[in-house]
Amino acid sequence: MGKNTFYLTTPIYYVNDKPHIGHAYTTILGDVLSRCHRLLGEPTHFLTGTDEHGQKVEQAARRNGVSPQEHCDTYVKRFQELWERLGISNDDFIRTTEERHTKVVQKILQDLWDRKLIYQADYEGWYCVGCERYFTEKDLKDGHCPDCGRVVDKLVEKNYFFKMSQFQQALIDHINSHPRFLLPLNRRQETLGFLKQPLNDLCISRSKARLSWGIELPFDHDYVTYVWFDALVNYISAVGYLANDAEFQKWWPASYHLIGKDILTTHAVYWPTMLMAMEIPLPDTIFAHGWWLTPPPAGMVESAQATAEGVKMSKSLGNVVNPMDMADKYGVDALRYFLMAAMALGQDATFTEESFVTRFNADLANNLGNLLSRTTKMIEKNFAGKLPEATEPGEDERELVNSVKNAVAAMRNAILNMQLDRGIAEVMSAAGATNRYFDTMKPWVLAKEGNTAALGRVLRNTAEALRIIGGLLYPVMPVKMAELRRLLGVPEEQIAPMMDKLEHWNQLPDGATVGQLATPLFPRIDLPKQA
Ligand code: MSP
Repeated sequence: MGKNTFYLTTPIYYVNDKPHIGHAYTTILGDVLSRCHRLLGEPTHFLTGTDEHGQKVEQAARRNGVSPQEHCDTYVKRFQELWERLGISNDDFIRTTEERHTKVVQKILQDLWDRKLIYQADYEGWYCVGCERYFTEKDLKDGHCPDCGRVVDKLVEKNYFFKMSQFQQALIDHINSHPRFLLPLNRRQETLGFLKQPLNDLCISRSKARLSWGIELPFDHDYVTYVWFDALVNYISAVGYLANDAEFQKWWPASYHLIGKDILTTHAVYWPTMLMAMEIPLPDTIFAHGWWLTPPPAGMVESAQATAEGVKMSKSLGNVVNPMDMADKYGVDALRYFLMAAMALGQDATFTEESFVTRFNADLANNLGNLLSRTTKMIEKNFAGKLPEATEPGEDERELVNSVKNAVAAMRNAILNMQLDRGIAEVMSAAGATNRYFDTMKPWVLAKEGNTAALGRVLRNTAEALRIIGGLLYPVMPVKMAELRRLLGVPEEQIAPMMDKLEHWNQLPDGATVGQLATPLFPRIDLPKQA
């Protein structure tokens, strides 16, 4: 990585879709990583947005009796409102119907056409309306779309093609010489496997006779560009490509394109070859995460959508988890915590309300929240709510300090190596060590004995550990951890932590006012009764 800025993108979501837990996951993950990099002190730019062109939008608008643009303007709000509700700190939100995007797409098309990297030919292929993609005969699975299983249509028509095949070897070389380009490693292997076959050129157009809700080709007004050639460009149009060079130079190449594994080929093959044709550097890393599954209904046969562990959520199966509902029921930060802690980055994970509640109670209510209220209560009672003075940690604090320091290092590694769940697990184990310290030192006995010096030492060290733990979890639970840190007396301008402060003990101001919780930070939840 040559530049010292951090630029992260999520996929842009189909504006028609009702946002579900899978969309929320990618965006929360992007948010947590962006906040982590801000915590490391890097200038950070976090982009998300919506993919607004295509047949499905056109059809839905027609059904509702409105223009496609009006339709998009209504539906985009569902995403924007959800991101606000979930505390997403995106720096920008791009819509592919905005002029800042459509103009850039057209400039790119014109340039590639002028340089003969786009050409016209007859196209014969199978088109899936659901996925908005063409497939070749051999791609099909039992005559159906290999991705979603729907019926596909055979089409022969004049079209425009991007000379993707020309960049096949260059792409293979790039993947081989950049070990971090495609992560996790199994996705790199998958892509290299895909590239063993000769790469076809990419059909990038649709005749307006069939679809007009797209970006018009500047060199043929009867055609619009095909959905991926439009959508992928958002990653550069949003940061000023061909419009604001200083901005573009500042952020590009992207540090991470976060994607789900379902859109690997488009990102790992189409996009880099498009960038090569434009002579723009490739992103540092394309990271594909796994799917959130729900337990398979009894009797369901294994398929592309269903494995032994679970089933991909989809509208047609009616097994979609609504993130708003979860946030309303259990709180936004609890939802963010569960999604980050319970999925090993890159693998699939199964979502059940029961596992959510179990983890909430164990990690947040018992391990962290309980300790916070015990500590603040004892400081209130024995020190009139003023933080006891710092002392040098001694033998009694050795395990505590080591465990917390270890969590700081683990979190740093976890951020850099995309292993957030492991970082979070280390922070929770530091919270466990803090609980052990507290229970071993028995501050309630020290209070009874009137041993104020020892009591102050124990409460102060516990508060320091909680400050650091709260700082490490701040990117995951910004609201709750701000509350925790404020209660412990962290000065207001330091509530959003910086890593260097978390690396040092005794950073709380002596005598700071320690607040009291009216209700627990994470009240225990009773498991929902099984129907
Ligand atoms: N519009 C395209 C992406 C264009 S990017 C230039 C698209 N949109 S989408 O609305 O279908 O959402 C895509 C992303 O949502 C997936 O890549 C994935 O990140 C996320 N998820 C959708 N379902 C998911 C799960 N069940 N689990 C986890 N994430 C999944 O594709």
